[in-house]
Amino acid sequence: MRVLVIGAAGMVGRKLVERLVVDGRLGPDAISQLSLVDVSAPDPVQAGFAVDSRAADLVEPGVAEALVAAQPDVVFHLAAVVSGEAEADLEKGYRVNLDAMRLLLDAIRGRGEGYRPRFVFTSSIAVFGPPFPDVIGDDQLTTPATSYGTQKAMTELLLSDYSRRGFLDGVAIRLPTLVVRPGKPNLAASGFFSSIIREPLNGQEAVLPVPTDVRHWFASPRSAVGFLLHAATLDTAALGDRRCLTMPGISATVAEEIEALRRVGGDEAVSRIRHEPDETIMRIVSGWPRAFDARRARDLGFRADADFDEIVRVYVEDELEP
Ligand SMILES: NC(=O)c1ccc[n+]([C@@H]2O[C@H](COP(=O)([O-])OP(=O)(O)OC[C@H]3O[C@@H](n4cnc5c(N)ncnc54)[C@H](O)[C@@H]3O)[C@@H](O)[C@H]2O)c1
Repeated sequence: MRVLVIGAAGMVGRKLVERLVVDGRLGPDAISQLSLVDVSAPDPVQAGFAVDSRAADLVEPGVAEALVAAQPDVVFHLAAVVSGEAEADLEKGYRVNLDAMRLLLDAIRGRGEGYRPRFVFTSSIAVFGPPFPDVIGDDQLTTPATSYGTQKAMTELLLSDYSRRGFLDGVAIRLPTLVVRPGKPNLAASGFFSSIIREPLNGQEAVLPVPTDVRHWFASPRSAVGFLLHAATLDTAALGDRRCLTMPGISATVAEEIEALRRVGGDEAVSRIRHEPDETIMRIVSGWPRAFDARRARDLGFRADADFDEIVRVYVEDELEP
């Protein structure tokens, strides 16, 4: 089995690659070739199968065709400009989040009859916009309230249509907000959900810009990798023409996050959180979903973390005591 990971140097991409290397297989099939792509070359990896790694910008002419020339059996498309940057730079957002997808899908279509790879795309709950019910079901309309969400929703439509036309076998998974994100904060407005756990556990101060009753929808990066692997191997006949799935997760308030932190890091860790209200972030976050009933994905076998304590434990196990 040949596997292509686009966006392999990103947070989720690295973790997916680590897991593929450890497993050596995807479902019942042994991996024979793993190809990694990102704008800056992904770190080299040692594996029991062939790995190639290259720096390439997906929107440059010819890149998409070159990536699918070896006809990978499974394509994970994770490359994206994240929410804050897509809002700040409209052109870049549409180029990377939408145009690149069209280039990729057409490159696959251009390989011709007989080539129909499994194509797993990371969408987002940002495809939904207010007003929301308290718990959002699988039939909620996609009415994005940001450019990032709009680009993801348009990409979902493309993936569905190209799947319906038989050019590929697509699955779009709408990831919850992934916490705890390792490393430095990125440009996402959701960054504080991770930093109020990560920084205190690393002995540093974190700023909380919203009230503690803010509720949101979360999963750990480890769960995200589990979703990707399941999406790559599930029987897509069960999806029909509805190829886009909201992933299961944990609905938690900031207060519940903080209590989970206390159970792992004690009062000392919690005391490192400084409350500093930020009107802009509060306004953005008030337009975000709070909870989902992701029944369709659960019935198809996607599994999330048990609770927020598990999300904190995953961060400790995977990042602090690997
Ligand atoms: N992290 C989350 O909370 C979250 C939530 C919902 C959805 N998602 C989606 O999951 C995917 C992975 O997220 P992440 O957190 O790992 O993001 P990330 O920003 O860490 O990784 C994205 C990667 O895409 C690469 N990339 C950007 N433009 C590119 C281009 N033109 N050509 C090639 N590579 C390019 C970047 O260099 C980066 O390494 C993204 O599609 C994101 O939209 C993430």
